[in-house]
Amino acid sequence: MKPVDEKYIEDLLKELTLDEKLSMIHGASFFHTAGVERLNIPPLYTSDGPCGVRRDFGEKEFVPYNYSTDRVSYLPSNTCIAETFNKQLAYEAGRVLGEEARGRGKDVILAPGINIKRGPLCGRNFEYFTEDPCLDGEMAAAAIRGMQSADVSCCVKHFACNAQEYNRQWMDTEVDDRALYEIYFPAFKKAIEEGEAYSLMAAYNKLRGAHCCENRWLLNDVLRGEWNYDGCVISDWGGIHKDYEAAMAACDVEMSIACDFDQYSYAEPLKKFVEDGTVDISVVDSKVRNLLRMMYRIKMIGPDKENRKMGSVNTREHQEAALSVAREGIVLLKNEEQKLPLNRKEIRSVAVIGHNADIQHSLGGGSAEIAALYELTPLQGIMMAAGGNIRVSFAEGYYVKPKEDGRLGSFKKAMLDQDPTEHHPWRRSPEAPADAELAALRSKLLDEAIEVAQKADVVIYVGGLDHDQDVEGLDRLDLKLPYDQQHVIDELYKVRPDMVMVLCAGSPVDISSFEEKAHTLLYVPYSGMEGGRAVGEILFGDVNPSGHMAETWPKKWEDTPLATLGEWDIARKVTYKESNLVGYRYYDTKNVEPRFCFGYGLSYSDFTVESMKAVATPDGFEVTGMVRNVKGPDGAVVLQLYVSDPHGADKKKPVQELRAFTKVFLPAAGADAFKMTLKKEDFSYFDVESHSYKVIPGEYELRLGLSSRDIRSVLTVMVQ
Ligand code: BGC
Repeated sequence: MKPVDEKYIEDLLKELTLDEKLSMIHGASFFHTAGVERLNIPPLYTSDGPCGVRRDFGEKEFVPYNYSTDRVSYLPSNTCIAETFNKQLAYEAGRVLGEEARGRGKDVILAPGINIKRGPLCGRNFEYFTEDPCLDGEMAAAAIRGMQSADVSCCVKHFACNAQEYNRQWMDTEVDDRALYEIYFPAFKKAIEEGEAYSLMAAYNKLRGAHCCENRWLLNDVLRGEWNYDGCVISDWGGIHKDYEAAMAACDVEMSIACDFDQYSYAEPLKKFVEDGTVDISVVDSKVRNLLRMMYRIKMIGPDKENRKMGSVNTREHQEAALSVAREGIVLLKNEEQKLPLNRKEIRSVAVIGHNADIQHSLGGGSAEIAALYELTPLQGIMMAAGGNIRVSFAEGYYVKPKEDGRLGSFKKAMLDQDPTEHHPWRRSPEAPADAELAALRSKLLDEAIEVAQKADVVIYVGGLDHDQDVEGLDRLDLKLPYDQQHVIDELYKVRPDMVMVLCAGSPVDISSFEEKAHTLLYVPYSGMEGGRAVGEILFGDVNPSGHMAETWPKKWEDTPLATLGEWDIARKVTYKESNLVGYRYYDTKNVEPRFCFGYGLSYSDFTVESMKAVATPDGFEVTGMVRNVKGPDGAVVLQLYVSDPHGADKKKPVQELRAFTKVFLPAAGADAFKMTLKKEDFSYFDVESHSYKVIPGEYELRLGLSSRDIRSVLTVMVQ
């Protein structure tokens, strides 16, 4: 972690009065704390994250200002970033976020969200990277380094096990040690140790009986004790409930969305505790010290203050970075008849059908919403890529009720006010049955779509989810495509069996009803301001797709680990009964065939892997070989190295686990060497009894694949 002049911090601490200390460690408004002018300590300004810098909010009212100056670069979602499998791009996206945060005068950007995707229905999955701790940790560490290179702090969130939105403020989560230390903790640890995250957000939910923001086992014992974290822990907004518990937990700054700022636990209640001797002043000092350290690291205070970077907003270069991520994060799932890329010379007309083709997603999703400077839609991108010799027509296809404004403000309030024993007011109710008017409208849109589809040389359907489903505070009820899309798709395939399908979404959907008909399928995770351009470029072959799935797509809900082993959507307490069998670890170990497996993604090129070798090093292995682009245009391949212990004594070990990956760029017919390293710990499991990671000596398989189920080369190595 970046060193801090501890004497400087201690000297400052000595100068501060109790009132000043307390004023610094709780919100003085919804997104900032108070500074101490007399000592040149500025207020701390925070902002969401993670897709860009959020709009500014009123000082005393939780409503956004909507200033034109709120408009910023809109970055691809974390789902999209993870699907690039490109650490450099994660760094770049982080750097853009950091620079824009600083450019807007912020000190902490509330990102990245790195919770493990435990199941496909969580409303916030689009804000998170993946189901796999290795990919999660690598992407998180890179993104954080990028953010913090701009002299702002990240705030890696939500620690820990915030894997569902349903009843998230009150849900008690029971997770065994093995799952915590193998699945849910490692990315946070990596974020801290390799990413050097200066701050971290404690989650809303309870973990083993105590709210994460007040959880002494989680924060004091694990985070500070086992991991030696000396950065600043910030509560999730409204995540603190009990004054004393919160005081004693190693959380440093309390933020909320209530406007009685003096009544926050870290304000008057904590002052009383100190004055009547219930809480020692050293407890307050420790919180202030952690906060000051973070401030020092981002040059808000200290000798380097004058050299703090000033950041920048809406630069062309930021837009280019957003485009690079989108280009590499979009995943080609099917190209059975080689319909893609489209050949401009052979096409005179394209019909684009579907509401998602021409809507902007940026201002939705909850706290990840962004007032984007602009957002190119897939329709715009397709038109731009098609050029003027091809006529592009559009039909909406399926009906979506226009969104109401200001949803988030009122939803958040409902969330804080709600009684945990009552029904849950933010719980989604199933879509109301179509009334006659709606039915008429739907059939009119379908007729238009069919007419447009029949006339064009190429038909591209653009559907999927939007931020009414991929949204903070709500989980989806099922994997179905919303609105009347199933029906519209079925009808369209009847007239155009050659239809190209583009699904925009932040989490998996069930495509079984048309799976066999869909020969051409592109998955577009919320891909930022330049996402539409990237869609057009990929469809027309200007860009060779290289994204790979960072989350398993099941065939149906009943196939998921949560439906078979685990628990989901339980009212007050959820037990992670599936333990460490999360994502592909479950599907592979239990032999359940997914729709699209983890790590899967097609290219317009074919690649081969040759001469894989593993050489033992003092600390593990170095795995090398050659990879070749044998057919197709310039492209990139994602090499994934899974470790397997097929005959191992540890019965709880998943069949295989991703331990390293690399993306190799290869010109047409080109070849290149690759190198990945494995450490001893990559062969380990978490031994609950000794509370440590252990390696069982013996033979292990190193499986090198282009996905978790497309293993191209296997080596057996001896691990001592
Ligand atoms: C979310 C956080 C977010 C915070 C501030 C909370 O509801 O869970 O991710 O950073 O609000 O908007």
